[in-house]
Amino acid sequence: MPVVLGDTERDADRFRFTLADDVVVVETAQKLDTYLDAHPDEDLVVVGPDVSMAVATEVSETYRLRRPFLGVVLLRRRMEVSTMSEAIRAGIREVVLADDVESLVGACKRSMAVSEQLRNVEAGDSGDQRGKIIVVFSSKGGCGKTTVSTNLAAALSIEGDGASVCLVDFDLETGDIAIALQLDPSKTISDALGMQGGLDERALASLVVPYKAHLDCLLAPTKPADAEFVSAALAGEILRVLSSMYDYVVVDAPPAFTDVILKTFDMADSYILLTTLDMPALKNLKVTLDTLDNLGFPRTKWNVVLNRGGSRVGLTAADVERTVGVPISVEVPSSVEVPARLNEGVTVVEANPRHAVAKAFFELAAKQRKSTGSSKVSAPAKPAKKSLFKRS
Ligand SMILES: Nc1ncnc2c1ncn2[C@@H]1O[C@H](COP(=O)(O)OP(=O)(O)OP(=O)(O)O)[C@@H](O)[C@H]1O
Ligand SMILES: [Mg+2]
Repeated sequence: MPVVLGDTERDADRFRFTLADDVVVVETAQKLDTYLDAHPDEDLVVVGPDVSMAVATEVSETYRLRRPFLGVVLLRRRMEVSTMSEAIRAGIREVVLADDVESLVGACKRSMAVSEQLRNVEAGDSGDQRGKIIVVFSSKGGCGKTTVSTNLAAALSIEGDGASVCLVDFDLETGDIAIALQLDPSKTISDALGMQGGLDERALASLVVPYKAHLDCLLAPTKPADAEFVSAALAGEILRVLSSMYDYVVVDAPPAFTDVILKTFDMADSYILLTTLDMPALKNLKVTLDTLDNLGFPRTKWNVVLNRGGSRVGLTAADVERTVGVPISVEVPSSVEVPARLNEGVTVVEANPRHAVAKAFFELAAKQRKSTGSSKVSAPAKPAKKSLFKRS
């Protein structure tokens, strides 16, 4: 049952109608304090539109440390960029327009889901385990990194137990996951700048953009100039926190060994190394493998994936294996289905799961699940608690 801060009893009826009959409304931060002390199970505070930003951020910052599983959803009458960034810095999970009932219900649901995840971690449900980090890489542009990372992430989130997945766009200057999945880039990695050293689950939960059930995305900056401010240390912190929140963290990369990508390789459990059937891509794969060897990144984590296989261009899969001396793990066929779905903003695995391209991605996901294991527990669905949201 969420508690609402700062609205009059008259407005409270609106919240009761929208959220739940037993919503509690408190008018001041002190009363909220008293209420929360008496209700240690409370997981959600909705801050009303007339509460000042100063009070809203103070509430969030106070409870961020004291009660990390408590989520704060903020209602505002106007959506301003400064409000968003202030809110994100304070660890507020979502900001919603005061009259957007649907978004409020959605934000509250997502916040409750994050709280439950955090409580599980605290209770040791997922113990000391962490989710697996998978990096998708090729040092040549256009080999299909974004295609593979988006489809692999979707396949992991669909298959079997429906693991929770976060897709991270570390192609910081030219990342296009937001475009590929038609997501609103109002929250991106840029919002994490300045949080280095203090990133926690709450902050990251407020930065990810949900794509579909079980799959969230952390998007690349919309301003390419921000890329240079994302340090390897910040990238490492992002991956560490995300891997405590999700079963899988799938990273899309730029076509180069940047500091951020080297840090990602350092932390990753599995590397998907792409090539296509052309000499430049093959040469680059060979260079990539030599580089990984030289840097001591273990071969046990290597997974060579041939994208756009089957094209009749003179080279074959066997040529690839012979040249690089590593077996191909999965071959993804070339098909017009890939760009067609991309233009619709969906993955092939969702739109056409029986297609040969989708099957290849499901095979890749299954192999990843097997080789990396699904560490964090995808707990069986718990029986629904007392109904919180009437309009679901
Ligand atoms: N299996 C496939 N069949 C057909 N087209 C494909 C396939 N894989 C990728 N493509 C197409 O190739 C192009 C490049 O793919 P993608 O953007 O995934 O590559 P990338 O490695 O992420 O590129 P960049 O290095 O620019 O980030 C896209 O137009 C995509 O639709
Ligand atoms: Mg790309």
